[in-house]
Amino acid sequence: MKIGVFDSGYGGLTILKEIRKRLPQYDYLYLGDNARNPYGSRSFEIVYEFTLQAVKALFERGCHLVILACNTASAKALRSIQQNDLPTIDHSKRVLGVIRPTVEVLPDITRSNHVGLLATPGTVKSHSYSLELQKLAPQIKITEHACPMWVPIVENNEIDSPGADYFIEKEIKKLLDTDHHIDTIVLGCTHYPLLEHRIRKFLPENIKILCQGQIVAESLEDYLLRHPEIESKLSKKRSVKYLTTEHTEKFDSLASLFLGKDINSQTIDLNA
Ligand code: DGL
Repeated sequence: MKIGVFDSGYGGLTILKEIRKRLPQYDYLYLGDNARNPYGSRSFEIVYEFTLQAVKALFERGCHLVILACNTASAKALRSIQQNDLPTIDHSKRVLGVIRPTVEVLPDITRSNHVGLLATPGTVKSHSYSLELQKLAPQIKITEHACPMWVPIVENNEIDSPGADYFIEKEIKKLLDTDHHIDTIVLGCTHYPLLEHRIRKFLPENIKILCQGQIVAESLEDYLLRHPEIESKLSKKRSVKYLTTEHTEKFDSLASLFLGKDINSQTIDLNA
């Protein structure tokens, strides 16, 4: 049984990379819904429908545990899948998201208790981050800001173009103008770490950037320690396979660039 990692596109590779660094022993199956990306501007119903299709596809291909390595899917689909779908699909299987583990580390990181969130319009509109923070650390004030152009920049590999700089600077300025006390910025979209070197250019040095990869990897390790009944089902051959809903040539060339090694994916059709 493998660990499935799902994202709307390439973004989840930033999470998979850190998970494999920390937990290299397991077998992984990555799925990017690149053909239907971006999810960030889609409705709740569509993101839920697409995410459920992806989770089922990963279960059918031997995953026992699926990480929704996508904030938009975690915000809009995780709760419904956990509560309504898993009991009927297979109550022994698990689906985990990326928002709660991120929120849990914030009290240890911010000193000013003012945090900025950069995320997709969908994640921002869901207010999932502020709702989780209200439960876990109500002393932290979070300013949620949507960056609608950042995912298309990554998916089209415009990361190092002058156009990317324009959109990155514009959104950072808007966020920092809204709250001058922000000392930590959460990259609340798994695509954004691929832009981190550009984002850093426009941020004062004293502001920390929080990427989710390591946080999610640590949280998964902790989860598996607390759940030996799940851990014992996972196979340990150190393998990784990649699935995409796009043409493999497109996925392979960009995924290879982002991961710094050759990737050979397979195409799957989630509508079938
Ligand atoms: N990478 C996804 C996230 O973490 C969303 C990208 C998209 O808009 O499809 O939110």
